[in-house]
Amino acid sequence: MALLQTSELVKKFGGLTAVNKLDLQVKEGEICGLIGPNGSGKTTVLNVITGIYKDDGGKVLFDGKEIQGLMPHQVCEMGIARTFQNIRILGSQTVYDNVRLGLHIRTKADLFNIIFDTKKVKNENEAIREEIEGALDLVGLLEYKNELTKNLPYGKQKVLEIARAIVAKPKLLLLDEPAAGLNTAESENLMDIVRNISKRNVSILLIEHEMAFVAGLTNKVYVINYGKKIAEGTYNEIKSNPGVIEAYLGTRGDN
Ligand SMILES: Nc1ncnc2c1ncn2[C@@H]1O[C@H](COP(=O)(O)OP(=O)(O)OP(=O)(O)O)[C@@H](O)[C@H]1O
Ligand SMILES: [Mg+2]
Repeated sequence: MALLQTSELVKKFGGLTAVNKLDLQVKEGEICGLIGPNGSGKTTVLNVITGIYKDDGGKVLFDGKEIQGLMPHQVCEMGIARTFQNIRILGSQTVYDNVRLGLHIRTKADLFNIIFDTKKVKNENEAIREEIEGALDLVGLLEYKNELTKNLPYGKQKVLEIARAIVAKPKLLLLDEPAAGLNTAESENLMDIVRNISKRNVSILLIEHEMAFVAGLTNKVYVINYGKKIAEGTYNEIKSNPGVIEAYLGTRGDN
């Protein structure tokens, strides 16, 4: 059984069908790619899966359970974490505190324990620190933990978002253009980071325009255009698919 499965998923914005009967699967342990030209519906797919938008048809199954209609924080509690196409971090907070935000779903220590600062809370605080530092280490930011986030270069801000996503220990990580704006060295470093996350039993679905990144990381790629799946397979299989080449060159047969 797939960890994530969408079946005939539909999302419309007024008269525009942004996601059109999309079937995709991410199996446990996989790194899957979701690619397609600008405006083809990739981000919308993630937004529907994570409960930001309500679907207009179809199903989303995660770990065998239907997750449509759940609120974003509930989807997160189920074990799906994500990053955003445009960085969403708090510049005036430290690197450490930004990652801590990703833990909010797991730190509902009850008020009594917080007020009386019992041993339980001290242990929990220690465990939280270890998790945050572990996530920062995984993305190579541990030495920057006390820096203000706004002082980090763009490439480090991008991997900080990944640290914030994985600190919640998701089963599935959704990445929306993680390599966008990175130079070649940063992009290669990010590939190693993604592989290391994958080794920790996190399945991954990533959107990316950077094809070297997709080729180097994914076991399976879904290609969409106008919200519809036009190809699926390994990167080598889809890269020579005429429909995919046509979609990327923008030469539609009907115009
Ligand atoms: N909130 C919204 N309201 C109306 N239309 C939207 C909304 N979000 C996305 N769209 C439209 O849905 C289509 C798919 O957009 P989406 O952002 O999912 O594309 P994308 O494949 O992620 O593109 P890109 O590669 O440029 O990030 C586009 O035509 C877009 O204009
Ligand atoms: Mg997008």
